[in-house]
Amino acid sequence: MKRLLNISLLIAAVFTLVGCFDENKPNYQYMPNMYEPVGYETYGEYQIFENGQSALLPVEGSIPRGWMPYEYDNTTEGKELASAELMNPEPVTQENLDKGKELYDIYCAVCHGSKGDGQGILMKNEVFLGIPSYADRVVTDGNVYHVMMYGLNSMGSYASQTNELERWQITMHVQNLTAALTGGEPLTVVELGMETEMEGDAEEDSADTESTETDEAE
Ligand code: HEC
Repeated sequence: MKRLLNISLLIAAVFTLVGCFDENKPNYQYMPNMYEPVGYETYGEYQIFENGQSALLPVEGSIPRGWMPYEYDNTTEGKELASAELMNPEPVTQENLDKGKELYDIYCAVCHGSKGDGQGILMKNEVFLGIPSYADRVVTDGNVYHVMMYGLNSMGSYASQTNELERWQITMHVQNLTAALTGGEPLTVVELGMETEMEGDAEEDSADTESTETDEAE
């Protein structure tokens, strides 16, 4: 008899509890530690910094990871200076050339054509006009890199789509396209074995930055 009473009390309790549940309200929280965030919420108001902010601007002069400062101005003088003195610091490996071709075909070939003769699909369809052949321009390392950093008149900048290494890889490919157009010599490909022997440490370092850069780019 007593047992029956216990069971019916239990059933009654369960029904009462379930009956109280309102779908439109947050349910009870047992041990809510994981529900309430410990970190600051984006756009939340907190007392740690002035004006209720929880984050501050980076210190002046900070440089984002994987980004290299570019010291030439976006002016005619800056372009001439870069054209004259800025050199490709990356080794001309087959890997860099292949990557450069791949990126060139993605970003540049629509206008400049896969051969660099200015006959890209947008030019052929007259969507875009006035695209030069590389054969008719000054194609130095610094000039190509500079034009990708800032763009030039109707050509846009590629500084946000590409990282430093990628811009040099594209530059190498543009150099080779120009050589093919003008009958010049293509870049000499360095053997990977030789290069690792000569600058083993530098290689390791650049391999590191390379992987972080690609991570961020993705
Ligand atoms: C939307 C079309 C378009 C795309 C895409 C484009 N360009 Fe250009 N590019 C132009 C035009 C137009 C000019 C000529 C600009 C001028 O002289 O006013 C030019 C000029 C150039 C020059 C010659 C610069 C000089 O000093 O005379 C180089 C080098 C160049 N582009 C490289 C590239 C590379 C590398 C890419 C890909 C990352 C690229 N372009 C993508 C339209 C384009």
